[in-house]
Amino acid sequence: MSRIPYVGRGLLASASCMDKAHTHSILDYNNIRTAKWRMLTHRNLNHLDKECEDIADDLGFPLFVKPANCGSSIGINKAEDFDSLKEAVKIAFSHDNKVIIEEFIKGQELEVAVFGYDSPFASFIGEIGKNNDFYDYESKYINNSVNLIIPANIPDESAKEIRQIAVDAYKAMGCKGLSRVDFFLTEQNEIILNEINTMPGFTPISMYPKLMENLGMTYGYLIDKLIEQAIDNADRNY
Ligand SMILES: Nc1ncnc2c1ncn2[C@@H]1O[C@H](COP(=O)(O)OP(=O)(O)O)[C@@H](O)[C@H]1O
Ligand SMILES: [Mg+2]
Repeated sequence: MSRIPYVGRGLLASASCMDKAHTHSILDYNNIRTAKWRMLTHRNLNHLDKECEDIADDLGFPLFVKPANCGSSIGINKAEDFDSLKEAVKIAFSHDNKVIIEEFIKGQELEVAVFGYDSPFASFIGEIGKNNDFYDYESKYINNSVNLIIPANIPDESAKEIRQIAVDAYKAMGCKGLSRVDFFLTEQNEIILNEINTMPGFTPISMYPKLMENLGMTYGYLIDKLIEQAIDNADRNY
């Protein structure tokens, strides 16, 4: 609104990627595979038992329950049975009025950096070497227990496909500038997109700058380039 150039995408793409239900819907429409999912809104809380039963029948346990709009793994829980599902849904609703429930995906967790406006390109693939069951708040920011592996230990064919899907998803969501696109790769080599972060973490242990460094862009150079492309494309962001 102030016509000040800034790094990152405008309101619509940022909001659509922030809202996990919107991300699922847009990717489903574009035939990009995500985890099977269901959405609950506050209205469903009146019939919570019935809703949870239906979802468990449909998707099976374990399940992942998430506030639709959050991040940093906050409010996210894995549910192994009916009681923990109800509990997880209540926790997620304490963070947002909209909650999504996903089938549990067992696989490697992979992340790709995408950069650019009209001809975006994808980095090589990074892998989250987790000790825990999932990449939770503590391992993201506190106990440094996660090992970032670049390039990921995956077949070349899968890596090629993941990089292409990352760029396709970036375009489908209307991303510009930069985004980190996160995936699972199952033991059957099935590629499942988890989420897109339009403003990925930029700490010294964050994946996006490390992936770009692997392409030869040092942290300082990357920041210069991000600012440069934001200024070059500023008129299109208003
Ligand atoms: N459907 C799923 N199956 C298995 N693990 C999941 C699933 N969804 C999320 N996770 C785990 O939870 C973490 C956080 O979920 P994510 O959707 O990435 O939310 P956030 O926006 O908070 O990062 C993921 O990095 C992954 O470890
Ligand atoms: Mg995530």
